Amino acid sequence: MALNTPSIKYKAHAYKSNRTPIQIVDETIDLVRKPNGEYVAPRGRILVKINYASLNPVDYKVYKKTPWISSFYNSKKGFGKDFSGQVVSIGANTDTNVKVGDLVQGLNWPIWGGGSCAQYLLVNPFWSPITTVPTNIDLIEAASFPLVLGTAMQMTRKMKLRDSKVLVIGAGTSVGRYVVQLARIGGAKEIVTTNSNKTSDLIRDLGATSQIDYHKYPNYLTPVLESVKSSGQFDYILDCWGTGDLFPEIDHVIKKGGIYYTIVGDDANSPIGAVKSSFRVVKSFLGLTKYNYRLGLLSSNFENKGWIESARDLLQDGKIQIFVDSVYPFGELREAIDKLESGRAQGKIVLEVEKPSQENQNPFE
Ligand SMILES: NC(=O)c1ccc[n+]([C@@H]2O[C@H](COP(=O)([O-])OP(=O)(O)OC[C@H]3O[C@@H](n4cnc5c(N)ncnc54)[C@H](OP(=O)(O)O)[C@@H]3O)[C@@H](O)[C@H]2O)c1
Repeated sequence: MALNTPSIKYKAHAYKSNRTPIQIVDETIDLVRKPNGEYVAPRGRILVKINYASLNPVDYKVYKKTPWISSFYNSKKGFGKDFSGQVVSIGANTDTNVKVGDLVQGLNWPIWGGGSCAQYLLVNPFWSPITTVPTNIDLIEAASFPLVLGTAMQMTRKMKLRDSKVLVIGAGTSVGRYVVQLARIGGAKEIVTTNSNKTSDLIRDLGATSQIDYHKYPNYLTPVLESVKSSGQFDYILDCWGTGDLFPEIDHVIKKGGIYYTIVGDDANSPIGAVKSSFRVVKSFLGLTKYNYRLGLLSSNFENKGWIESARDLLQDGKIQIFVDSVYPFGELREAIDKLESGRAQGKIVLEVEKPSQENQNPFE
């Protein structure tokens, strides 16, 4: 797949700061000329032609928090992290297992690196996990899992799940659906979840042994204490939505030495919630809580990025089910974000950058 132009020109969704809209802009990637006259991706980089990008709440949160002053440093910040597509070129000295022509999915990092809602992406595999697509899923599903399944794997990886009692808060979220499945695969004895009535059958099929409808119980504490009364305290609490409901009675709810792992904190939308959870992190670190409290952000590099290979294997073996809510055309990012922000998506929202076809499996041939 030889490239014979010195640069790639393409369209991308980008923004300057939270004061400007996310717009489609023209972008350019400069290539490196080889002695034989062909062009390749820059050193240490993988050039991917994107087919699909999936949206995560963090993409929009980052945009909303990007100050205007950062426009001086970078006036075209890309939007989106998760992607699927095809490897077009690999630069010299690139440490990767993927090859030119491979169909791949990955998570582009760092946070203000290029966005995946673009026709091309220059991936730095030092920061960005990338691997080949399992043969039993399509490219839409491939784009949908990296950040959320990676987060669920990071949350559960140090937990001894066999025969444990687990509470998954926000089991209907994309992360929560994977957490429930990983708890089931890990051999948890009891998996209690909070989710709406509408997802009840689905969450049960994924592994929940009992459920709390958050519409019926806007505060989870009472039903959680009932569960403790009937079958004992929890070994692990995995919060995928963000709540402080349990803390007034937390010592009754979780076992001594148990883990409370949240990826949001007490409240995603409140600075007071953020202060409370940060305070709890410090208390737990100093050994002043009887349980371990963790406020985790996905680290793209955990297990030296090997997690994406493990995720790939779980999917290839058919052990994990993927959920895609909807697919939006490239020009309808705003509508896709509105659906994401509604909090009602049933799985991932995916942006179709270019439908894969027989011809564009090898875009430069
Ligand atoms: N720290 C990190 O590294 C990290 C990584 C990924 C995500 N996150 C954060 O985790 C959260 C979830 O992200 P996501 O992409 O998984 O979400 P998502 O898929 O967009 O979540 C949508 C689902 O949330 C559920 N939901 C709505 N209101 C709820 C409530 N009051 N209580 C419990 N569940 C409710 C609904 O499920 P039902 O159908 O059951 O109503 C809905 O289907 C976000 O705040 C995100 O920013 C953090």
